[in-house]
Amino acid sequence: MTLLYLSSPARARIWQPMLQSALPEIPFWDGLEAVEDPAAVRFVACWTIPDDLSDRFPNIELLISVGAGVDQFDFDALPEGVQVVRMITRRIGEMIRDYVTLGVLALHRDLPTYLGQQRAAEWRAHTVPLARRRRVGVMGLGQLGLAALDALGNFGFQLSGWSRSTKALDGAKNYAGMAQLPDFLAQTDILVCLLPLTPETRGILNADLFDQLPEGAGLVHCGRGEHLDPGALLEALGTGQLGSVMLDVTNPEPLPPGDPLWSHPNVILTPHVATETDFAEGAEFCARVIRAHLAGAAIPGLVDKKRRY
Ligand code: NAP
Ligand code: GLV
Repeated sequence: MTLLYLSSPARARIWQPMLQSALPEIPFWDGLEAVEDPAAVRFVACWTIPDDLSDRFPNIELLISVGAGVDQFDFDALPEGVQVVRMITRRIGEMIRDYVTLGVLALHRDLPTYLGQQRAAEWRAHTVPLARRRRVGVMGLGQLGLAALDALGNFGFQLSGWSRSTKALDGAKNYAGMAQLPDFLAQTDILVCLLPLTPETRGILNADLFDQLPEGAGLVHCGRGEHLDPGALLEALGTGQLGSVMLDVTNPEPLPPGDPLWSHPNVILTPHVATETDFAEGAEFCARVIRAHLAGAAIPGLVDKKRRY
């Protein structure tokens, strides 16, 4: 019974000693070349997997993503018996909380306008509403969306959140399912996207959705680039339907040189850095997952393979 690790050498340097001390009975094979017996591979920790993973390693039980998302996996190619796990660590939650706070406050206080004015050496003030008059809506109320709502509550924003299933939220209105999406959007001045990328959410940030927001709404997007229709985004920014946006993820990534988003005055762009996993925390999480699996206990971060998140 072994753990096959397929990720960066920097992460391996931290993971190998930690996992060997946490799970001494389970060998840690770093990379495909290290595999001595394909049939012994039961656990795979990786970001992406080779296409022929299940042919090569017929006895895999757990596929553990080294990131928060699992959309990089081809679920259709995974054998039924393989369980998929996403990474949940304190650092990911704390970093998303900071990023969303940064983005919402930046849009709330008109930062893109002032950055443009600074470049033009223009000294001009604009009035902004108080936070308690600004309505912020978060799409996706999982580990990260809830952390974001919690942080935004400190500023007094009028908060709401949209998820698949209904939730009782403290200090925020909940909207659930496609049927309530229009009502959620109609009352959202700044929209935050923290959805997972699934067949249902791919392309969800499109012209139809933007049109349902109040005119001049803001967008903070730190889900996945493929949630977003870039043409519709530029169009909505051009007409003023969207006021300004902060994007951590783009479609495609990296954003090609010359893409209009690089220089758009109403766009603040970061290169998919809202979070990063702490390697030591990740190794601890991986050990917890394997121990829970071996003990037949509930596995943290277990993904519903039908929903794909
Ligand atoms: P999670 O705990 O699995 O939560 C997902 C949330 O999205 C849940 O509230 C779920 O609703 C909702 N949802 C899923 N499909 C939906 C649909 N079709 N309609 C309405 N709501 C839907 O995920 P998480 O840990 O919070 O992470 C969310 C995503 O953030 C990740 O998948 C990844 O794409 C992104 N992310 C980005 C970065 C970055 O650096 N930019 C870093 C980490 C993660 P229910 O609660 O009703 O199931
Ligand atoms: C980053 O986007 C992750 O999924 O960890």
